[in-house]
Amino acid sequence: MTDAPIPTAILGASGYIGQHFARLLSDHPRFDLPLLGAGERSEGKRLGDVWLLAEPPPSSLAERPIEGWTPARLERAGVRVVFSALPSGTAGPIEQELVRRGVNVFSNAADHRLDPGFPLLVPEVNGDHLGLLGRSGRSDHGVLVTNPNCSTTGLVLALAPIVELLRPTAVHVATYQALSGAGYPGVPSLTITDNVVPFIREEEEKMARETARILGTRRGARVVPLATPILAHCARVGTREGHLEAVTVEARRRPDRAEIEAAWTAFDPLGGLDLPTAPHPPIELRRESDRPQPLRDRWAGTPPRARGMAAVVGRVRWTPPYLRFFVLSHNAVRGGAGGSVLNAELALLRGALRTKGGSSQ
Ligand SMILES: NC(=O)c1ccc[n+]([C@@H]2O[C@H](COP(=O)([O-])OP(=O)(O)OC[C@H]3O[C@@H](n4cnc5c(N)ncnc54)[C@H](OP(=O)(O)O)[C@@H]3O)[C@@H](O)[C@H]2O)c1
Repeated sequence: MTDAPIPTAILGASGYIGQHFARLLSDHPRFDLPLLGAGERSEGKRLGDVWLLAEPPPSSLAERPIEGWTPARLERAGVRVVFSALPSGTAGPIEQELVRRGVNVFSNAADHRLDPGFPLLVPEVNGDHLGLLGRSGRSDHGVLVTNPNCSTTGLVLALAPIVELLRPTAVHVATYQALSGAGYPGVPSLTITDNVVPFIREEEEKMARETARILGTRRGARVVPLATPILAHCARVGTREGHLEAVTVEARRRPDRAEIEAAWTAFDPLGGLDLPTAPHPPIELRRESDRPQPLRDRWAGTPPRARGMAAVVGRVRWTPPYLRFFVLSHNAVRGGAGGSVLNAELALLRGALRTKGGSSQ
């Protein structure tokens, strides 16, 4: 690992996820203050002028201009890591071009999540899928690591510790997804006020495919997806941040409830690793009858740098063969920018980032 912080850029810096990236990277020990890139709408404005989040912009970045960027401009600035918060569809070809030019890309967009050569990563769950990188691509290309859809992240964190214990025959999940999951400006106010919308385009399909891939087993250069059916209902509700999910697992095995709870509370696969944005523990188990709640639990996660990175599990009911619980996770932090930053920290720690000359560090 290098000691000097690595030069980075955020693409999509004026958007909802981009601003969470700015917040997380403004004083990051491994990644340098980022170059801020966005589209034509925001080019030339200062980050502080387009700021959307409730807390103020980081002082080190508030005055920074949002730049019209090109791959050549990133090259001139010596950028080695790009955090991509570009819209899906736009992101795909741009990210591939950057990878071809030797830049390492950590992406929130959906375009490359299911590409066989690129890991779809949640470090606590499938950190070993980073091994796909050693087997794909040219050594003078950068790496591309994606993180899942924001509703998938909370689900896989909650399932990872209990899959072996329960050997599910099926997983049913119903989501209550926050407005910011749709980016800015999100859902029109007259559509969502006094309402719940029981449809989010392609979300249910993404949850099924991405969960199966992340919980799948890496065999050499490919991942064998988990075979268990994942049956999702996805709905948009009028909360700002934090996706709540009601999960029912149909189990083959019948462990004691205490074993299930212990599997969640003991789960900390990144414990002992020097990853600044990793929450310890990554799952917080609440025993109150009315938690988790978006308003009270979306910022779960310690240490302070990992605020919003823990998933909160609660309302656990075990009536074999059915395990029912709720899980909450912050869609834009754990399910978005924070997930990508943690992916980059793990890739750096594992020596998986590439340099232009082709050597790994
Ligand atoms: N919101 C979430 O909870 C969430 C969670 C996980 C993953 N994601 C994914 O993260 C990505 C960003 O989502 P978001 O919610 O932050 O969206 P958003 O608020 O709509 O922001 C999109 C950003 O992309 C920029 N942009 C658009 N076209 C561009 C182009 N051609 N070149 C450069 N920049 C361009 C926009 O810049 P302008 O201001 O100039 O238009 C803006 O900064 C999406 O792929 C989304 O699916 C979102």
